[in-house]
Amino acid sequence: MIGKKLQDAINNQIQAEMSSAHLYLAMSVESEEKNLKGFAHWLKLQYQEENGHAFKLIDYLLERGGSVKLQAIEAPASGFGTPVELFEKVLAHEIHISKLINKLYEVALEEKDYAAQIFLQWFITEQVEEEANASAVLERLKFVGDKGGSLLYIDKELGKRD
Ligand code: FEO
Repeated sequence: MIGKKLQDAINNQIQAEMSSAHLYLAMSVESEEKNLKGFAHWLKLQYQEENGHAFKLIDYLLERGGSVKLQAIEAPASGFGTPVELFEKVLAHEIHISKLINKLYEVALEEKDYAAQIFLQWFITEQVEEEANASAVLERLKFVGDKGGSLLYIDKELGKRD
């Protein structure tokens, strides 16, 4: 059975993951509206990944005999700017999520919940990948530029994500 404090912290993280999904869906839709179909595809897969993260936490909480309390999800921002600005926001968001995961891990440490510590290590590793993926796209956009032919090239590349 999981402790109340850790249960509440995991419920908060479920909310954060679902909010992330909502944010990436908004970014995907905005990219689609700008006819940047590769960006839209990349962000839609990111939306699905975030839902996967939320479900992983939900399943874990249920497995540990905890209670899942879904929380409200606020409307995401809009007007994400140029492709460079968009990916600056993606990277900043992932850095924010990494901090939340680290705080969640700290709760598992304080509560001496060793099973949860092992479970949460997956998320710590995942966040390294999440930040690296966003950073790689941002660096490419900055390197080749986010206009004209360069933008079309990167849009095509992002469309290959599977
Ligand atoms: Fe679920 Fe992108 O962190």
